[in-house]
Amino acid sequence: MKFSIKNFLKNFTESPRAGRNLVILLVGSLGLGIFCAWLVADIATKREQGRNAFFRVTEITEESHDPAIWGQNFPYQFASYKKTADMNRTRFGGSEAMPRTPTSADPRSIVSQSKLEEDPRLVSMWAGYAFSKDFREERGHAYMLEDQIYTERQKVGQPGTCSNCHASVYPVYKKLGDGDIMKGFHKLNAMPYSEAKEHLKHPVACIDCHVPADMSLRVTRPAFIEGMKRFKASKGIKNYDVNTMASRKEMRSYVCGQCHVEYYFKGKEKTLTYPWDNGQRADDIYAYYQKIGFADWTHAKTKAKVLKAQHPEFEMYSQGLHARSGVACADCHMPYERQGNIKVTNHHVKSPYNDVQASCGGCHPIPANELKARIDIIQDNTAQMRNIAFDALIALIKDIEVASDKKSAASLEKAKAFQREAQFLFDFVEAENSMGFHAPQEAMRVLGLSIDASRKGQVSLR
Ligand code: HEC
Ligand code: HEC
Ligand code: HEC
Ligand code: HEC
Ligand code: HEC
Repeated sequence: MKFSIKNFLKNFTESPRAGRNLVILLVGSLGLGIFCAWLVADIATKREQGRNAFFRVTEITEESHDPAIWGQNFPYQFASYKKTADMNRTRFGGSEAMPRTPTSADPRSIVSQSKLEEDPRLVSMWAGYAFSKDFREERGHAYMLEDQIYTERQKVGQPGTCSNCHASVYPVYKKLGDGDIMKGFHKLNAMPYSEAKEHLKHPVACIDCHVPADMSLRVTRPAFIEGMKRFKASKGIKNYDVNTMASRKEMRSYVCGQCHVEYYFKGKEKTLTYPWDNGQRADDIYAYYQKIGFADWTHAKTKAKVLKAQHPEFEMYSQGLHARSGVACADCHMPYERQGNIKVTNHHVKSPYNDVQASCGGCHPIPANELKARIDIIQDNTAQMRNIAFDALIALIKDIEVASDKKSAASLEKAKAFQREAQFLFDFVEAENSMGFHAPQEAMRVLGLSIDASRKGQVSLR
């Protein structure tokens, strides 16, 4: 007999067991109904918990500057934020705790290792500049303020501009500018650091990245707001405003891009400026510095007017496949973690290397040792090419030194121009802290351009 609904119902109701069948059906439907109702209610509570994953223990406002106050409402985020004080070395990143004897001038009992000792070629590259005196591996956010206050690079008398990226300055801008952050920013830049530091209380804090009312992300650094406006204008987008026009995904990188970028101090007001008018690649930025004729210092051995590149993580990352695919800084450096029913963002911002399962595993479901190997291959290749480019640059610097009293002024000028270019491009990859990982092909391209400029400089002296 063919199956049909009609036959089935007939059998069901007319069979000798019709009564029992009916009871089973009723009880079954009731059970299913209760289960469905529970499921819907449970999903709703979980969603509510996810959205509102905290108890409002205390009211948080624009006046809540201390992260500990925010921590009362957001204990998970606060606990992981405090872990930025941990120090862990990786092959090319992280940081190692080096004990030191505190002095009255510098009370730190632990610092991170010196990069100058790791590679003395850095001292030759930066001859005549404060970086050749003290330059260390960077460490967690918890140290940003003390490391800036006590670095030997302060001995040359730095401007207040330095503090923009090393402290919770959003409240300081507001205080100095009577509520106007742009006004406060200019006031802070124009102060000597010794005066500015009296206003600094915390390393970067919750209020620098979050709107207190709804915890959404915000950009609080005028230099980034202005830099992005000029960068977008170069791409034909007028009056770009990060805080109203960026997507949530973009904000998950922009909050980091406020500080992890190349910068310079503009004019006698020492305005913090991001050099993105021509674009964000190393050679675009070099072209910008060529146009405005900017130099950080005069090289002590060759007298070339040279530039110092600084931590261009945001610019380098932006050239890579992850950025293209919409993967943000926070995806790898602040991965989600489960806390009971809810997903929270890990605020222990650190190297992903020792935690690849959490940082990469969600998108690349492969074993941890294979994930590490993928990082290793990229970093080893970049390190090899970095070494070759560095040797080429040091060879050029030596050649210019030797030639300085033998060659014509014109020929020396030409060689010095090549040094300026080769050195900036090399330093762009050197100062970028991922050893090529953020954009492997781009790092190789820039190192290739640097080697080319160094060798052309040497040839120009023949
Ligand atoms: C796809 C994952 C990924 C993304 C996206 C990413 N990073 Fe990284 N980042 C890494 C890896 C891997 C390293 C290398 C870590 C190491 O060598 O220990 C690294 C290294 C770093 C370092 C040096 C860390 C250290 O301990 O030395 C900094 C700083 C950094 N990234 C900042 C950023 C910023 C800012 C962004 C966004 C503009 C970003 N990263 C985007 C994976 C990522
Ligand atoms: C645009 C933001 C920005 C500004 C402005 C800035 N820094 Fe930093 N600084 C960073 C970032 C990001 C790091 C971590 C990455 C690194 O070390 O490469 C850092 C690291 C450091 C470190 C620790 C590593 C090291 O280099 O020894 C010191 C010290 C430091 N900065 C001092 C200064 C001083 C002094 C000034 C002013 C001349 C300054 N910073 C201005 C963003 C900034
Ligand atoms: C207010 C400026 C500022 C912001 C915003 C900022 N950083 Fe940093 N970051 C720094 C400075 C300065 C250091 C170095 C501190 C030191 O060495 O004392 C640093 C260090 C780091 C390190 C090295 C940590 C370690 O343990 O070695 C990583 C990784 C990093 N930042 C990634 C990020 C990411 C990702 C974001 C965005 C979610 C971000 N940073 C936002 C200024 C900033
Ligand atoms: C350098 C920037 C930065 C700082 C400083 C920072 N956060 Fe966050 N926070 C983020 C990012 C990025 C996210 C992810 C937001 C998103 O995806 O929309 C986030 C998400 C959150 C969320 C939403 C829930 C979650 O876990 O995803 C809370 C709550 C939060 N942070 C609390 C805090 C508290 C409390 C502090 C200070 C102790 C703090 N944050 C400091 C960048 C920051
Ligand atoms: C949010 C998702 C996401 C996260 C997190 C993520 N990736 Fe990726 N990754 C991607 C996507 C998407 C691509 C591009 C794939 C494509 O288009 O073929 C990619 C490409 C890559 C590539 C090849 C491209 C390149 O840049 O060399 C490597 C290697 C890689 N990922 C390693 C990692 C590692 C290691 C981590 C953790 C530190 C990580 N990824 C974290 C999504 C992610």
